[in-house]
Amino acid sequence: MRHLVTGGAGFVGSHLVAALLARGDEVEVLDDLSGFGHADRVAADRPTAGSRVHPLCAWTHGSVLDPRAVERVVARVDRVWHLAAVVGVPRVLADPRRAVRVNLEGTEVVLDACVAARVPLVFTSSSEVYGDRAGELLREDDPVSPGATTSMRGSYGASKALAEWSLAAVRRTTGLPILVARLFNTVGPGQSAGHGMVLPRFVEQARRGRPLTVYGDGAQRRCFADVRDVVEHLVRLADLDGAYGGTFNLGSRVESTILGLAELVRDLAGTGAEIAHVPWAEAFPGEERDVRGRLPDLSRLAAAVGSVPTTRLETTIAAMLSEGARAAAPAP
Ligand SMILES: NC(=O)c1ccc[n+]([C@@H]2O[C@H](COP(=O)([O-])OP(=O)(O)OC[C@H]3O[C@@H](n4cnc5c(N)ncnc54)[C@H](O)[C@@H]3O)[C@@H](O)[C@H]2O)c1
Repeated sequence: MRHLVTGGAGFVGSHLVAALLARGDEVEVLDDLSGFGHADRVAADRPTAGSRVHPLCAWTHGSVLDPRAVERVVARVDRVWHLAAVVGVPRVLADPRRAVRVNLEGTEVVLDACVAARVPLVFTSSSEVYGDRAGELLREDDPVSPGATTSMRGSYGASKALAEWSLAAVRRTTGLPILVARLFNTVGPGQSAGHGMVLPRFVEQARRGRPLTVYGDGAQRRCFADVRDVVEHLVRLADLDGAYGGTFNLGSRVESTILGLAELVRDLAGTGAEIAHVPWAEAFPGEERDVRGRLPDLSRLAAAVGSVPTTRLETTIAAMLSEGARAAAPAP
């Protein structure tokens, strides 16, 4: 089987590419390297545009906003995984319009190419579509509420939600097999601290013996799933014909507070790093407050594939800490 992974040089994408290659499938990657990803994640050698980077992997440096580039690669594959997106609160706040364009228009371009070539599509949406919904068990059929338009953060969740509507409309009118996975907080090895995501930031701070900066009081709650677990479940879902046409929450069911997460990273790192609280408004001027919580109902995922991600957070953090230590070690 031959796959296209857009955003394949990114954090989740590179794990997905590795999983597909490991089972002997062929993979095309389309990525413009505008994120924190790098092409040599999927290969030993840094590839040039169009060069082959792994015996079973072809690389195209290009944008999902370029219909011709997208059509060319989509025409060569049996399944498309559309992951390319502007991701991470700092990046979205830096250029909300770009986030909307890439996440919505980019999905339209990929969708049009899939319709034209009749290629099944897997789309990674986000728990951000639910907005700030602490204390609720979030089900796929719940209304979306990405937030007020005065908060730029909501642009990410809104663009993903609108993309989902477009996919649903095409699914209905053309019957194209389309699968939507709403990823909740996904963490693990290979995640850049530059994304602004909380766990890789804490890991980096702890490793350097710097204070771990908790925005606000740290009582915000999140569910963190290991990327390797998420990718395994995503691949298993996509291998089920019956999953197409569906929308699935995908993440962990175990909640942690952000303060509890900081304490766990500090203890596992053993570097005695302090925990420092930074007011939310100082960290993200103009944004009223952080999302207080989000808990996925994973029963639809469990019914489809028979399990949900369960990797312990300690295991994931230990892998991230040892990866950081390896990267920092002097060359022999
Ligand atoms: N990591 C998470 O916690 C999480 C949670 C929910 C949803 N998701 C979704 O999973 C997907 C992957 O996220 P990630 O964490 O790996 O982010 P990432 O930033 O590491 O990966 C995104 C990739 O998309 C690429 N990209 C951006 N704009 C592009 C464009 N115009 N054309 C081609 N490539 C482009 C980037 O260069 C990057 O390599 C995204 O769709 C994201 O919305 C991730």
